[in-house]
Amino acid sequence: MKILVLHGPNLNLLGKRNVMHYGNLTQKELFQMLKEQFPNVSFDFYQSNHEGQLIDWIQTADHFYNGLLINPGAYTHTSVAIRDALEVTQCLKVAVHLSDITKRENFRQTDYVQAVCDQTFMGKQAKSYVEAIAWMIEQPPKKVNL
Ligand code: DQA
Repeated sequence: MKILVLHGPNLNLLGKRNVMHYGNLTQKELFQMLKEQFPNVSFDFYQSNHEGQLIDWIQTADHFYNGLLINPGAYTHTSVAIRDALEVTQCLKVAVHLSDITKRENFRQTDYVQAVCDQTFMGKQAKSYVEAIAWMIEQPPKKVNL
């Protein structure tokens, strides 16, 4: 299975960000941990602080991957454009958050992404990613019409 993992703004700073919400793994450690836990999955990992770059990568998902895992960071709460890009993407799509955004500030209660993903995992820090990928592996393959 080929999975594209996309990280939005500020997730390159994991390790320095609020440990209570995001845990103490750096982004590099998090990605390494996923590779080790799922040796049979072929991963590509990308991070960008730019909305358009994330959208360009989302648009490649159906061409090259069976599944897309995205933590859009703060764009979760603001980006109709990322939502629209995900909506048209047909491969398996999972949204992941390290923290539980439903239990945080009011401005994080708007979630443009969840409704256009097949599943959302959150609130367990790095374990949210592990649960997401384990779930993706179990899903029957989707037929994507390119
Ligand atoms: C986050 C939650 C967002 O509200 C925040 O802006 C992030 C990370 C998470 O993983 O918990 O950057 O997506």
